[in-house]
Amino acid sequence: EKGNHAHFMLKEIYEQPVVVAQTLRSYLRAVEQRVAMPQMDFDLGAIERVVIIACGTASYVGMIGKYWIERFARLPVEVDVASEYRYRDPVLPLNTLGVVVSQSGETADTLAALRHMKANGVTTAGIINVPTSSMAREVDLLLSTHAGPEIGVASTKAFTCQLAVMAALSVNLARAKGKLTPEEEADIVTQLTESPAAINAALAHDDEIKAMAGTIAGARDVLYLGRGPDYPLALEGALKLKEISYIHAEGYASGEMKHGPIALIDDSVPLIVLAPSGPLFDKTVSNMQEAQARGAQVVLISDAAGIAQAGENTIATIEMPQVHPLIAPIVYAVPVQLLAYHVAVAKGTDVDQPRNLAKSVTVE
Ligand code: F6R
Repeated sequence: EKGNHAHFMLKEIYEQPVVVAQTLRSYLRAVEQRVAMPQMDFDLGAIERVVIIACGTASYVGMIGKYWIERFARLPVEVDVASEYRYRDPVLPLNTLGVVVSQSGETADTLAALRHMKANGVTTAGIINVPTSSMAREVDLLLSTHAGPEIGVASTKAFTCQLAVMAALSVNLARAKGKLTPEEEADIVTQLTESPAAINAALAHDDEIKAMAGTIAGARDVLYLGRGPDYPLALEGALKLKEISYIHAEGYASGEMKHGPIALIDDSVPLIVLAPSGPLFDKTVSNMQEAQARGAQVVLISDAAGIAQAGENTIATIEMPQVHPLIAPIVYAVPVQLLAYHVAVAKGTDVDQPRNLAKSVTVE
């Protein structure tokens, strides 16, 4: 049931504070300020390498996970889309943890990649939303998201719940590898515990985003820029916009702007910049300013400090709460989803059932 919401997608966007909190409850011990994983029959401390495989939106969770696992656990991480991974004869050294990420647990390519890893003796974990699915049954370690049924074809709440579990897994790996002090772990646990409230604060900007959607709805092309863990979120923003509004959109790593895409920039191309303040902020802003000098219509999504520093000459700014830059994608996902939603509504497309798309892709 959609309740008061016009579409399942909007309802599911609004469920995020609750379902992310619900998911985190299984992975955080608030009192001890520690992350906790379900019982497992292998030693996480023996893992020397991580391979993350998924499709679409779930693959961006894998890309963000790479930033987290490398940063916290100092383990090398490889991320690939399942349709490429399964056919390229990948090298699978011993002591690899293979991680699949899937809302449905039935995506054909991801399932085949999981079976390939298992057949090659790799220990597997799955971040999965449907506990009765094929992948949930076949992984060695099931890491459930508790997003509840996701009806809208465009994934929203499953994405943020997958990120929450990926963050917990990253911290757990880091502890198992002896790379995280109890104080550092407590700090990340606090950040994660506060993320549902930050998501709520992000949702409060719904009306502003709706008000500017008309401007974006008239565009033929839209570019999204982000750096570090916000780069995969830029890819997610572009995917969300194209799948439900049918506007051509691309996500780029901010630093790649001048290596080609800047040629596309003129005053007809909106540029959505995802830039929480932090160590990477100035770099992203300088890329943004290069685009502004060529007439780009910038929407800056940042926090109060970032907007105060770089909010001039934009067509709009959307102010997110101040969060640790590493967990920013969990919060910045909200304006990205709402923007795609309102643009699609402004264009009159079928938000919950976009053309040509299926909720679960069980054929290759
Ligand atoms: C995009 C979207 C898809 C899915 C992809 C994987 O909004 O929903 O890109 O993320 O088809 O599906 P699951 O997670 O079920 O494996």
